[in-house]
Amino acid sequence: MESIDVFEALDLIPHPLAIVTAGDPQTPGRRGGMTAAWVSRVSWNPPLVAVAISPKRFTYQLIKEFKAFAIHLVSKELEDVAMNVFGSLSGRDVDKFAKAGIEPLKAQAITAPIIPQSPLVIECKLVAEYPAGDHVIVVGEAVKAYKTSAKPLLIWHESQAKQIK
Ligand SMILES: Cc1cc2nc3c(=O)[nH]c(=O)nc-3n(C[C@H](O)[C@H](O)[C@H](O)COP(=O)(O)O)c2cc1C
Repeated sequence: MESIDVFEALDLIPHPLAIVTAGDPQTPGRRGGMTAAWVSRVSWNPPLVAVAISPKRFTYQLIKEFKAFAIHLVSKELEDVAMNVFGSLSGRDVDKFAKAGIEPLKAQAITAPIIPQSPLVIECKLVAEYPAGDHVIVVGEAVKAYKTSAKPLLIWHESQAKQIK
């Protein structure tokens, strides 16, 4: 086997390509979302999901304030906005939904903006958070979910999103 740098190795772990949203769906400036790859199921019962989020993110502030977030898987149709809007701009400076031409829906069981084009949406109530180096592990209980027929993308490096077959 070939020895490689640990940072290069960690970049090669496959992740879902997701957008995590939070806030008031109808109020620009109080709604936001960010692209996230570090998303994982962490408990069967109750059904818990964890996202590693930098505390610098505007989305993190909204999650703390609204005590909820929605995880959206990303399809090919949403890939460009995931990379170039939700994954690179800050909600402090711009309303990403307007920038992306997305009219968010209201979540059904929590307060959060929902991206209707997403292949899979999981609404989560914030139940815990744990510090982890330069990120915070935000843990949510999945309380509602819905899907479309679109195919989600997987990512194992920022530049290589692939559709799940
Ligand atoms: C492919 C990709 C994956 C990302 N994954 C994460 C992640 O898991 N956690 C995180 O804190 N930031 C992640 N980011 C960075 C945030 O999406 C980015 O900093 C975003 O602009 C934050 O927006 P906000 O300040 O409006 O919350 C990722 C970005 C990209 C492009």
